[in-house]
Amino acid sequence: MSEPRANPPSPPVTSLKGADHVLAPLLDRFSTAELTEPAPQGAVLEAVLTTALRAPDHGHLQPWRLVVVQGGERAELAAASDAAIARTMAGAPASKRQKWRERLLKAPMVLALGWAPQEGRIPEDEQLLSVGAGAMNLLNALFMTGYGGQWVSGPWCQDAGLCRALNVPALVGLMLVGTPTVEARQRGLRKLRTAPKDFIQYGLNPAIPNKTTQTSKGVPA
Ligand SMILES: Cc1cc2nc3c(=O)[nH]c(=O)nc-3n(C[C@H](O)[C@H](O)[C@H](O)COP(=O)(O)O)c2cc1C
Repeated sequence: MSEPRANPPSPPVTSLKGADHVLAPLLDRFSTAELTEPAPQGAVLEAVLTTALRAPDHGHLQPWRLVVVQGGERAELAAASDAAIARTMAGAPASKRQKWRERLLKAPMVLALGWAPQEGRIPEDEQLLSVGAGAMNLLNALFMTGYGGQWVSGPWCQDAGLCRALNVPALVGLMLVGTPTVEARQRGLRKLRTAPKDFIQYGLNPAIPNKTTQTSKGVPA
C-alpha cells in the first residue's frame, strides 16, 4: 500500500462549494444490503480495511479483529450464524432465520467486525467506541471507493459459538459488503428526520443566539 498523504487539506477549507466538495462523501453516504459483485479486492481491500485502524484508540490497544469472508466460506458463516440465532433467539421464526441466511449468502463479501476487549486502565466502553468508529471508517471507505455495505447485528453476535467459528474474542456485528445495485444507488440517501439545528447547540447557553451564520440548508457558512 502506498504511503498515506502526510497532510490534511492546506489551507483549511472555509467554504464548501459544488456538489463534489471535500465533505460530500461523508454527507452523502448511505448503507445498503442491496449488493452485487464485485467486492473490493487486493490493495483496495487492504486500504479499506486499514482505515479501521485510523479510528481514535485510547491507549493504542488496537482492539479491532476483522475477518474477511467471501466465496464458499459464506455458506459456512451462514450456517454458524443460523446456529447462533437458534441458540440466542429461542423461538425465532423459520422465516427470520431464512432471511439471515439469504442475506449472508447474497452479499459478495461479509466482514466480521470482531474485537478483543483488553483489561487495564482503558474502560471497555472506550475500546468498544473505537471498534465502532473503525467500522464507520470502513463504511465511509467503501462508499468513497464506489462500493457499499450495511452493518448488521443482533443478539446472536454475542454467541460464543459464532465467535469461535470466526476466531474472534467478541463480535459487534457483521458488515455486508459489495457494490450497491443500480436501484439502491438511485434510491440513495434516507431522509434525515433531524435537522442540524435540532441536535447542534453552538455555545454553552442556547438562549444566546450564536454568531455562526447559517445558510438556508442549516450548514454553518
Ligand atoms: C451496531 C449496529 C447494528 C445494526 N444492525 C442492523 C441490523 O441487524 N439490521 C438492519 O437492518 N440494520 C442494522 N443497523 C442499521 C444499518 O446498519 C444502517 O445504519 C441503517 O440501515 C440505516 O442506513 P444508513 O446508514 O444509510 O442511514 C445496525 C446499525 C448499527 C450501528
